[in-house]
Amino acid sequence: MAENEFAPKAAEVDQKHRFPRENWNLLAASDLCGLVFPEEYGGAGLDHVSYVIVVEELAKACATTSVMYSAHVSLTATPVYIFGTEEQRHKFLTPMCKGEKMGAFCLSEPGSGSDSAAATCMAELRGDQFILNGSKNWITNGIEADYYLVIAQTETSKKHKGLVALIVEKGSPGFTFGKLEDKLGIRGSATCQIMFEDTPVPKANMLGDIGDGFKVAMVTLDGGRIGIAAQAVGIAQGAWNHALRYSKERKAFGKLIGEFQAIQHMLADMQTEIDAARLLTYHAANGNDRGDKYGKDAAHAKLYAAEVAMRSTIKCVQIFGGYGYVTDYPVERYMRDAKITEIYEGTSEIQRLVIANYLLKGT
Ligand code: CAA
Repeated sequence: MAENEFAPKAAEVDQKHRFPRENWNLLAASDLCGLVFPEEYGGAGLDHVSYVIVVEELAKACATTSVMYSAHVSLTATPVYIFGTEEQRHKFLTPMCKGEKMGAFCLSEPGSGSDSAAATCMAELRGDQFILNGSKNWITNGIEADYYLVIAQTETSKKHKGLVALIVEKGSPGFTFGKLEDKLGIRGSATCQIMFEDTPVPKANMLGDIGDGFKVAMVTLDGGRIGIAAQAVGIAQGAWNHALRYSKERKAFGKLIGEFQAIQHMLADMQTEIDAARLLTYHAANGNDRGDKYGKDAAHAKLYAAEVAMRSTIKCVQIFGGYGYVTDYPVERYMRDAKITEIYEGTSEIQRLVIANYLLKGT
């Protein structure tokens, strides 16, 4: 499906900044939207290793589609499954598993990215509902989603201990969207700012309790980072596949460029690193499936895979020479798409910080 349906449209999605809704519909029709959740909620009951394989395959073809999918599964459906009550699971998770509803995760703000605890979007509890005021930035699936998992502050002085996780439905009063962001890569993912002005959210839409919002966000990101690692592996592998093909077709100095040792070394180095990144990703996903503590493994995988994706895609452009620098060939798109994997769901600097914290604590 990724090769036949998504790859041929990936350039057009990128050039027109078009959200590929038809790709979502195919993912839903193929029972992939709830891949890792139990069948009783409409999921497919598969494991997280299967999930990262799906994300990688999507990213090889179309990185926009892979992030649309992983933001839904890892960042929205998963916290509803982990932290939701039975009632919340049936109400929100089941339609997400069936692909009837799409999820979006809303943590970053105009003034807080890496420092998640500094969120200032306010949630004031009045009776049986919260009133939301503020904005959230860089929302993947932006205007296209149906359920928004919003991390908001109930009492600024409490810092991270005041945060709350709320599911906000599209169409809620005072819930509006900013302009679509004009991005370097993954240009079809409908990234935008979202704004709340006196938006009522039922208390029944809260995951966990008041004060649990930071934990919900961190646990969610631990899983999400494995998905982004898989995306980075897919982007790197997709670009490499094009570079290999090109090195068997393009001639210079009377021979195929793949016969030159300079190109062979690049291909060998890249594939070695991509395989290593993939194994780190599988290892983290397998830890999740086993029920291990996998936060450090997720950070390892995300950090390494993202940097491999960036290094590899730059080399792939180099192998294509001038043709790598124009949109007639797809490798420049892979290079642009790769960059965000070093930024979203925790920058590479944050991954190093997370890893170092685990190492210093000896856990
Ligand atoms: N799981 C559970 N609890 C955790 C945790 C984890 N992984 N990490 C931290 N905590 C807990 C700590 O135990 C601590 O608990 P107590 O208060 O009970 O002691 C509490 O949270 C605070 O921990 P820290 O002091 O370590 O928190 P911090 O403020 O220093 O921040 C951070 C830590 C790692 C830097 C965190 O803020 C972070 O991950 N930042 C990056 C944010 C990020 O990844 N944003 C991505 C946005 S989403 C996105 O990109 C989606 C998209 O578009 C696709």
